[in-house]
Amino acid sequence: MLRTHQNAFDMESACIAKGGMLPHVFHIKRQTFSSSPHLYGKPLVASGYSATISVWTSLAFVTAAMVSSCNIILEKMSKTAFITGANGISGSAILEYLAQNTTAEDWNSIIVTSRSPFKTTVSDPRIKFIALDFTQDAKALAEQMKDICAPVTHAYFCSYVHKDDFAKLNAANEALFENFLDSLEQVAKSLQNVTLQTGGKYYNVHLQPVPSPAREEEPRRQGPIENFYFPQEDKLASAQKGKSWSWNVIRPEAIVGSTSKPNGMNEALTIAIYLLVCREFGTEAPMPTNQRYWEGTDDVSDSNLIADLTIYTSTNSKCANEAFNITNGDYFTWRYMWPRLADYFNAKASTEQKFTKPLPKEGDVQLENSFLEWSKDKREVWESLCDRQGIASAKQTFDFGTWAFQDWVFQRTWSATLSISKARRYGWKGYVDSYDSFVRTFDKFKQFGLIPK
Ligand SMILES: NC(=O)c1ccc[n+]([C@@H]2O[C@H](COP(=O)([O-])OP(=O)(O)OC[C@H]3O[C@@H](n4cnc5c(N)ncnc54)[C@H](OP(=O)(O)O)[C@@H]3O)[C@@H](O)[C@H]2O)c1
Repeated sequence: MLRTHQNAFDMESACIAKGGMLPHVFHIKRQTFSSSPHLYGKPLVASGYSATISVWTSLAFVTAAMVSSCNIILEKMSKTAFITGANGISGSAILEYLAQNTTAEDWNSIIVTSRSPFKTTVSDPRIKFIALDFTQDAKALAEQMKDICAPVTHAYFCSYVHKDDFAKLNAANEALFENFLDSLEQVAKSLQNVTLQTGGKYYNVHLQPVPSPAREEEPRRQGPIENFYFPQEDKLASAQKGKSWSWNVIRPEAIVGSTSKPNGMNEALTIAIYLLVCREFGTEAPMPTNQRYWEGTDDVSDSNLIADLTIYTSTNSKCANEAFNITNGDYFTWRYMWPRLADYFNAKASTEQKFTKPLPKEGDVQLENSFLEWSKDKREVWESLCDRQGIASAKQTFDFGTWAFQDWVFQRTWSATLSISKARRYGWKGYVDSYDSFVRTFDKFKQFGLIPK
């Protein structure tokens, strides 16, 4: 039993509450607690039984001492992380989090994987990279993983294939996760936790108006199209049944963060490129959306904050076998956020943005103007801006803009937010101001030469 936890009692209640398998040592520990009154007061039973009781009490004492020292050892045992999608916006943030906030005593090794070669700005001797393609079947993957991944204790699945076609998106991502989990279970015999990152789309926030903020305990909504998060989450929970490892699911909103390579969904970078090009033209930079979304309520998820919750839940036994939403902890209105973001880049935008199309009905989709259409003839301007500032490396960033994805987010006419009350109830205290989250991310883009100043 290689599980690390706060204390045995905590672990035991968590196991019972979740209907999970109660490991043998915790049954013993429980007896120990219930026997303890005998140690302090008079025997509670007739004297004929007292010798037997005393033997049991001594045994309980010894057992308690053994379990307790075992727990101390387990708590001190170093963990090994396995982060998939390490080139991506979520996986790279978990890597950065572990590199910046942990020591080799606590996490002795950080194994990262992506399909293509690893590209990172994080430097840490604990990092080991292996390229894996999770479209391969579990047997083939296990063969490649068996040496490097054998010591994995905590696995974080952040791989994702983006396709604008929903049917293809669902099939591809469901298979990716299955292959990952089946192969991992074959090779990682000391596994303690598997965390799967899904997202707000679990609640169908992308398809239709839903009760907002969405809460984890709500029943699933079947939408007009399949949702690949359902089979992914089901696979995780069913694979865990009867095993000693625990699972977690983390569900963010649109992620504000940075990647070293183009990815499928990157809100902050798309906005940054748009605002910089508008500044270059000297024109207004209206938000490509509709009036209802402009005036509605929204939230976003900072990639570093997601990493913080992910590590918290995966290493905290009371969070075992639970799903958690994650957002920054504030709500905002784009009407007031957008001009502030524009201002950061010295681009022109106003809280009084005019819409020529009629106010759409809630539930419809509408765009006053489109990122995708806009982006089609802007590369030249972007490249000349990069040349003028002497950062030729940033020219390729134009390809990082996720224009179709952003249209798809901003065309909605409903406010869809997530509640993070559950994470709070489980003791997590994370928070970041969403404007600060954007600004920090923009600053990082500049620092890494991804965008001009
Ligand atoms: N981005 C967002 O705004 C957002 C918002 C809410 C929820 N989510 C959810 O968060 C999860 C993670 O998404 P993300 O946005 O962090 O992903 P991402 O930035 O697009 O990164 C995806 C990662 O998956 C890897 N990958 C792609 N195909 C692979 C394959 N065949 N085998 C192995 N690895 C492969 C990529 O590797 P290479 O780079 O090497 O190809 C990359 O490292 C997804 O479920 C997504 O829906 C994302």
